[in-house]
Amino acid sequence: MFPWLKCAAYLLIFCIIIELIILGPPLTNRITTSIYQYNLDLKVGDVLTNEGKLQHTGYLSFPTLHWNPQSLNSTLYKSLRYKQWDFYAMYTENITLCVALADIGYAKNAFITIYEKGRDPITYDQIIFPWEPTKMSDTSEEGTTFYNSSSIFVLFVNAHKYLKSVIAHNSNTEINLQFRKSPQQESIVYLGPFNSDMSQFFYSHKVYNYKVYGYAEIQGREYVFDNELGMLDWVRGVWPYHGGWIWGSGMGEYQGNKFALNLGELPKDPNVAKATDDCVIINEMMIKLDVVVMEKSEKDENVWEFKTVNSEPQAMYSVIKGEFRVEAKYNKKINFWVFQSYLIQNFGVFEGEVKTLEENYKFKVRGILEVHSARW
Ligand SMILES: *[C@@H]1O[C@H](CO)[C@@H](O)[C@H](O)[C@H]1NC(C)=O
Ligand SMILES: *[C@@H]1O[C@H](CO)[C@@H](O)[C@H](O)[C@H]1NC(C)=O
Ligand SMILES: *[C@@H]1O[C@H](CO)[C@@H](O)[C@H](O)[C@H]1NC(C)=O
Repeated sequence: MFPWLKCAAYLLIFCIIIELIILGPPLTNRITTSIYQYNLDLKVGDVLTNEGKLQHTGYLSFPTLHWNPQSLNSTLYKSLRYKQWDFYAMYTENITLCVALADIGYAKNAFITIYEKGRDPITYDQIIFPWEPTKMSDTSEEGTTFYNSSSIFVLFVNAHKYLKSVIAHNSNTEINLQFRKSPQQESIVYLGPFNSDMSQFFYSHKVYNYKVYGYAEIQGREYVFDNELGMLDWVRGVWPYHGGWIWGSGMGEYQGNKFALNLGELPKDPNVAKATDDCVIINEMMIKLDVVVMEKSEKDENVWEFKTVNSEPQAMYSVIKGEFRVEAKYNKKINFWVFQSYLIQNFGVFEGEVKTLEENYKFKVRGILEVHSARW
């Protein structure tokens, strides 16, 4: 007999067993019924227990709970499941800019994504080896995030709680921004469990309606920003092996208001999670939304429809309905079998209406809608 044939057959069987039993099927559970939307604003103390599990689940308007990640790297396994990123974005009329540094445990990644109106989106993306030094901020309002190499430089500095600088450059791009917010600016802090004992979770702070000043130079094209709007997506989490999300993020001036929306579908545990991070922010006020579902339209593949599962507002949450029109798209695929990442980033316009118990708000703002799935 051909020994190599036998060998190949054993290898194939081995791979199938790992695929079916260890890697398992992807997470497909989506939440399609209302969640109470539990507000944690009056809680004090730590985000995590001593064992590194979430202490509470719910949401806050300000990051008032103490972030205590010390136990998350106490074992090698834990430190591989711990994922962190600091992501800054602005969605202006003529340019969308995203700059980020991410640390997913066994690899790190710095990137700059640029979408200039009328051009194809560009991404400068650098995979960073685990032994290369990087720094991640201590909280969303404190510390420094830093990476530098011959190909990309990223530096986010918190001067104080209400002022940051966001600097990034490579050989043909330079971004230098100042992000300011007022002490009254509400935001959304989210404590969302992925599993029932809350040892896997998503802890995020999303801040919208920063005032942004600065400039960018993209392949020689210059942009000056004077009082534009910016956002921060600051995330620390312990993820299941199968991760992913659909994330809608939009922001702009509309009818005299600074309007921002944050819509997210994550693989949360439907029996344990007491909130989602779906919300809108109008000027300095955060308005909590019920569970939002987002679906690609059956009629037009460049349209996504989104709405809260409930169509009438309640005391604990408001409702939204609208659509996102895709203007440009960026795709990234990485497949190393056990490690995979599929990312589709759509750039475009969110349009629709929010209903609260008191008032209705219409909106039309620019932003991104991201679809990501990963084995990581
Ligand atoms: C774990 O992280 C903390 C900072 O959060 C650091 O001080 C400590 O040295 C790390 N421990 C290990 C074992 O890497
Ligand atoms: C966007 O670009 C157009 C055309 O170049 C220009 O007229 C307009 O002033 C720009 N808008 C902003 C806000 O910079
Ligand atoms: C960044 O790295 C480059 C090349 O490795 C080096 O020339 C430069 O001085 C570094 N800059 C900073 C601020 O560390």
